[in-house]
Amino acid sequence: MIYCDSAATTPLNENVIVEMNKISSTVFGNPSSIHKFGQESRAIIERSRLKIANLLGCDLSEIIFTGCGTESNNIAMLGLLNKGDHLITTSYEHPAVLKTAHELELKGVEVTYIKPDQNGIINCNEIKSAIKENTKLVSVMHVNNELGTENSIEEISQTTNDMGVLFHTDAVQSIGKKNITLRNTKIDLLSLSAHKFYGPKGIGALYMRNGVNLMPTYFGGGQEKDLRPGTENISYIHGMAIALELAVKDCQDWHKKLSKLESLFLNNLKNENIKYTVNGKNLIGGILNITFHDILSQDLVIALDMKGYAISGGSACSSGSVKTSTTLQEIKMDQNLAQRTVRISFGKNLTENDINGLSKAITSIINKSNLNAK
Ligand SMILES: Cc1ncc(COP(=O)(O)O)c(C=O)c1O
Repeated sequence: MIYCDSAATTPLNENVIVEMNKISSTVFGNPSSIHKFGQESRAIIERSRLKIANLLGCDLSEIIFTGCGTESNNIAMLGLLNKGDHLITTSYEHPAVLKTAHELELKGVEVTYIKPDQNGIINCNEIKSAIKENTKLVSVMHVNNELGTENSIEEISQTTNDMGVLFHTDAVQSIGKKNITLRNTKIDLLSLSAHKFYGPKGIGALYMRNGVNLMPTYFGGGQEKDLRPGTENISYIHGMAIALELAVKDCQDWHKKLSKLESLFLNNLKNENIKYTVNGKNLIGGILNITFHDILSQDLVIALDMKGYAISGGSACSSGSVKTSTTLQEIKMDQNLAQRTVRISFGKNLTENDINGLSKAITSIINKSNLNAK
């Protein structure tokens, strides 16, 4: 099987597995214990925190370990907003933000949903116009998970900062793909997740600028500044730090390789006269949201799976769902086109041979389906 669904998740990097196994098999103390066993675990956590902070360009006191990207978003949003406050977010966020916003509405928080334009980009001026007296938080995703389009979070966070409003970004799809120096931005809160950059699933982090205060969402033993209490997963935290270090180091080379693979793929399709459209502008790279005009997305996804290629149906926002995706609706894509749209996301293990195989498989499936339709 050739895996082309890296935006959903990535396989664990082999060095990360080795490092995590070392920790899992030798270190087990509770990091909150005072004795040597506890100190050993605590040291691993704090070294990982320092490594991640250095890689993201922030202070180590600004990194909170969480269980995943979803949890980071929840802790940030639920921890900040109360009845009567105003939240501005976007209508094409991942459900980890959208559903949290809906929950906040039920609690009396006023929410404004800014729509992306047809290219999948959020206009900073629309955010600016929506800010009012009781606006406490603006939350805009960095890179959209279905389209791969990148929002200018530097510009938006500068605007919110000028207007005295806090800014949160769900950067789950960008951290590991694009380097950032947080202290050079006005971002106050940022969510990330290790399994998107070849780290383990079930571990994430929240960057929280010093001086920002959140109310706790969970209650317990006080770990992670009381925001994510519970005994820490030492080997996963260690694995996330190593995975991020490798991703940051590899970032430029990977982008070069990626743009070659993407051009090869699209040129192959063009040469075979396949009718397709790449959706969205200002793409981060690595995520292609493509409409194949001559085949339904679910037919293509299933036929490719049978030929040994894993891609994702762009019209299904969660597994098993055949509903048109909220994101495609929000960029005003015609329903008929949305049903012919898939997400192909290339990962680090792919070769030119794999890409040639994928384009050949797509061509043969579409040609066969065209023949059957005649
Ligand atoms: C943009 C975005 N936010 C949040 C998440 C959720 O992250 P996690 O699986 O770590 O909870 C995802 C995962 O697909 C995502 O793409």
